[in-house]
Amino acid sequence: MNYHILTLFPDMVRDGLNTSIIGRAVEKGILSIEAINIRDYTKEKHGHVDDKPYGGGAGMVMQAAPVCDAYKALCTRLGGKRPRVLYMTPQGRVFNQSIARELSEEENLVFLCGHYEGIDERALEMIVTDSLSIGDYVLTGGELPAMVMIDCISRLVPGVLNNDLSAEIESFHDNLLEYPQYTRPEIYEGRQVPEILLSGHHKNIDMWRRQQSIKRTLERRPDLLENALLTEKERVFLQELTRLAKDGDKFSDTV
Ligand code: ADE
Repeated sequence: MNYHILTLFPDMVRDGLNTSIIGRAVEKGILSIEAINIRDYTKEKHGHVDDKPYGGGAGMVMQAAPVCDAYKALCTRLGGKRPRVLYMTPQGRVFNQSIARELSEEENLVFLCGHYEGIDERALEMIVTDSLSIGDYVLTGGELPAMVMIDCISRLVPGVLNNDLSAEIESFHDNLLEYPQYTRPEIYEGRQVPEILLSGHHKNIDMWRRQQSIKRTLERRPDLLENALLTEKERVFLQELTRLAKDGDKFSDTV
């Protein structure tokens, strides 16, 4: 996977992505991360990349030419390929695990990071293929969203995690949250690790973990359950949990 980040702050993304698991995957050659400084593509005397908005209003708008020229130069370097361009904007589709899974199959991805009041609409019309947001709040620029998405996509690229299985059983797999995890000691401050995890009975442990995932999802993110992949037996378990939760409500209403 080759990431190309169009930004006015290349050091910010380089520094943010050169450590830990992502940094190691870059060293191993599984990922490459290129931060392209949009300012290098301005033809203005003083290196300006932004100007006042037509029609008036607060702030500055990034000009179309340096953004488009930076992308065109990249496409030329890639031998004429035109990789997907992901524009980081709170106006985009909200990023999630299934978008990450889809993007992890690409060979090249371009992240376009805006600043100030955004980017001239004509540049966006010309090069952007996907507008993506990391949530309903506004940041000062697209660099942090790009780093969040790169981190998330990268752990789905084969070879990036030491244990590829852990990407499969994590939260949001099958639209369920992950089950609780424990490690040594067996008792911490009087709190005991669930007995079943010490039993060595793998089939029962797997079943317990699935049930914990379902229970957690019902408690914390019931909205996910609509699309959860459950067996018939698990559906019955979920119905029972839902019934118990409702009875609990009734009980607390009457006390
Ligand atoms: N740029 C500013 N805020 C953003 C957000 N929430 N998601 C993506 N890009 C952004």
